[in-house]
Amino acid sequence: MNTAPSPRSDTDWTPRSWRDRVALQQPQWPDADAHHQVLNQLGDLPPLVFAGEARELTEQLAAVSEGRAFLLQAGDCAESFDTSADSIRDRLRVILQMAVILTYYTGVPVVKVGRIAGQFAKPRSSDTETVDGVELPSFRGHIVNDIGFTADERAADPERLLLAYNRAAATLNLLRAFTKGGFASLSRVHQWNREFVADSPAGQRYENLADEIDRAVQFMSACGVNSDTLADLRQVDFYTSHEALLLDYEEALTRCDSLTGDWYDCSAHMLWIGERTRQLDGAHVEFLRGVGNPLGCKLGPSATADDVLALCRTLNPDDVPGRLTLVTRMGATRVVDGLPPLLDVVKEAGHPVVWVCDPMHGNTFTADDGRKTRHFDDILAEVSGFFAAHRFSGSHPGGVHLELTGDDVTECLGGGAAVETADLGSRYETMCDPRLNGSQSLDLAFRLAELLRNGTR
Ligand code: PEP
Ligand code: CO
Repeated sequence: MNTAPSPRSDTDWTPRSWRDRVALQQPQWPDADAHHQVLNQLGDLPPLVFAGEARELTEQLAAVSEGRAFLLQAGDCAESFDTSADSIRDRLRVILQMAVILTYYTGVPVVKVGRIAGQFAKPRSSDTETVDGVELPSFRGHIVNDIGFTADERAADPERLLLAYNRAAATLNLLRAFTKGGFASLSRVHQWNREFVADSPAGQRYENLADEIDRAVQFMSACGVNSDTLADLRQVDFYTSHEALLLDYEEALTRCDSLTGDWYDCSAHMLWIGERTRQLDGAHVEFLRGVGNPLGCKLGPSATADDVLALCRTLNPDDVPGRLTLVTRMGATRVVDGLPPLLDVVKEAGHPVVWVCDPMHGNTFTADDGRKTRHFDDILAEVSGFFAAHRFSGSHPGGVHLELTGDDVTECLGGGAAVETADLGSRYETMCDPRLNGSQSLDLAFRLAELLRNGTR
């Protein structure tokens, strides 16, 4: 069994030590006293997740780093406080459906991690937004302010930190009920996939792939292995994650584990550092290096080999497998030249990282109608380039990191149901980046299956 690093052995880390560093992307709270009071309240509330669960995820990610499992990390770009229970259920359903397809075609377990139950804070390229000559603070996610363009809605309101905690708790409760209560049973999830294949025009292409899974499920059932006889086919492990952006919120939910004496950020199982806050001497790296949770770090096209090595040494000095996931988001064209040098130096240095492809954030562009979008083909091309780079370097392509929803939105272009620019306006509902809709997500899972089948992994 792998043990998490011992942050306490590091003499100068405390849950507050990030405060001596520059913390980018923090909101200005107009009422400092109210903000302070809320943080004290959060500090007294129960943890949302448990240290033991975070350690379990580290172990599963260790298997990913060795090519013995595959990571599917997916969910909203920015979760809304107004998300309905049906929408949460449908997002989970799509992730479970994708996981069944990927499990069959990778031949290894799929570790399922949602961008969910806490993905409320967004980094912004500018502190303010100007519309028709009026300048207001940028929308930073529901944990900070509201999306409407009035001074009231855009003011940072600390009560929202408590609302975020409560929304996260309610979402987690629902996820735990769905994943342990029979909703996630293999036969049921496979039946939904059959329905997708039967109903969608794009689905026809996947008929043979789905038939194969069908035969495997029938074979297992004939051997006496089915959801009635085996609990593992009725229940799944599902973990939560978000970008650890608002450091005072994360600090308030950081607790010392009574079992090990180590610190864990109990706001989610896995936390990641965004592309805009991964400075080695910055507050985000300082905070996260000291918590025992499995960590992610985004790497955009500007990341150098030296940056990556330094991040590995700082965030995972003991080289614990599963501790650090590097999430590359280069863009479909840049991945070809940008990724291999990073894979090579990390391999040579012997760091046991999980490599994951985020094919969303390097492929965003503004469509002719002015909306931010992404094209399905670019998303697929980046994943394909990611697999190819790993094959070339002899390292493991650990998984994918996606922005998606189960809702029938029109935010990304292309896919089997061919969303076009003219369609974007009809159901463009995201509060931040464009997400794959339910059918584009399943489409992507089947296209990944084809890549895996053709040995391009
Ligand atoms: C995100 O994951 O929503 C995000 C902002 O990504 P990045 O930090 O890679 O830009
Ligand atoms: Co995003």
